[in-house]
Amino acid sequence: MSGGLVALVTGGASGFGAEVARQLVRRGDAVVLCDVDEAGGHAVADELGATFLRCDVSSYEEVVATTEAAERVYGGLDLVFLNAGVTTGCGIAEDFDLMRYRRAMAVNVDGVVFGAHAAIPALRRRGGGSIVATASMAGLTGTPFDPVYGANKHAVVGLVRALGPALRPQGIRVNAFCPGFAETKIITDIKAVLTGSGVPIIPVEAAGEAVLQAFDSPETGQAWLLQAGREPMVYRFRGIPGPLNPDGSPASPMDPTGVPTEPGAAEPPPDLQG
Ligand SMILES: NC(=O)c1ccc[n+]([C@@H]2O[C@H](COP(=O)([O-])OP(=O)(O)OC[C@H]3O[C@@H](n4cnc5c(N)ncnc54)[C@H](O)[C@@H]3O)[C@@H](O)[C@H]2O)c1
Repeated sequence: MSGGLVALVTGGASGFGAEVARQLVRRGDAVVLCDVDEAGGHAVADELGATFLRCDVSSYEEVVATTEAAERVYGGLDLVFLNAGVTTGCGIAEDFDLMRYRRAMAVNVDGVVFGAHAAIPALRRRGGGSIVATASMAGLTGTPFDPVYGANKHAVVGLVRALGPALRPQGIRVNAFCPGFAETKIITDIKAVLTGSGVPIIPVEAAGEAVLQAFDSPETGQAWLLQAGREPMVYRFRGIPGPLNPDGSPASPMDPTGVPTEPGAAEPPPDLQG
């Protein structure tokens, strides 16, 4: 799937959003950029011949109105990159900050939920489409340095894993993008520490390519991990151990949501075996 499609990109004024927009335009797609950074958004839109609409993704009304406007501008919507995000800047002990916490929840979680909610009817009207939500490697592993951010990004991965199978019958694919540290504004404050500790930084171009790969892939409900120096890969979660009948035999191979557990999941993994 590429060229001639219409894409909506949140957080499009810089970083991953601007780069994904650049790569989509290069292959012939039309792009609507959304951001709270109006100067940055207009600059990227002017550079690419794209459309910029100011939108705060933490506002339900703004997300719905902007998604409707994006669909109207180009007569439809095929690709949605739910990417706007912020770090928290606080912990949850003495360093807890209610305002920062609420902002992170609102941008990183509400923004993705509102974005998917608003886009689904438009994608359905096209007979299907593809959503990529930016989570992070912080959605797959523990992040002691920013626990709320870790919780936000795990929520995005959980949402995507639920929406993938739920929307498959409608031809809508939903995937999460889970990169390690990458060369964007968001790491400005910690870049020196990262490079000083030998942590390789992912070039933003590689991140853009990974997102386009996720957009075009037939996979759905998956977390696409991007590590520096590696190709993007689908992170395969281990299936949960299935339930057992009272006699100890494997019961229905369904998890509580009715989704079949993964092959072999009825057997506890080695580290759970007595
Ligand atoms: N760069 C990394 O190392 C890295 C790693 C993993 C995940 N991420 C995630 O990637 C996503 C994009 O970030 P980035 O790295 O490109 O950083 P960035 O700071 O360059 O871009 C984030 C963009 O989101 C916009 N934004 C913030 N709040 C918004 C809101 N309420 N409504 C609309 N737009 C808003 C910002 O103005 C900015 O343009 C984020 O979700 C971030 O959590 C980044």
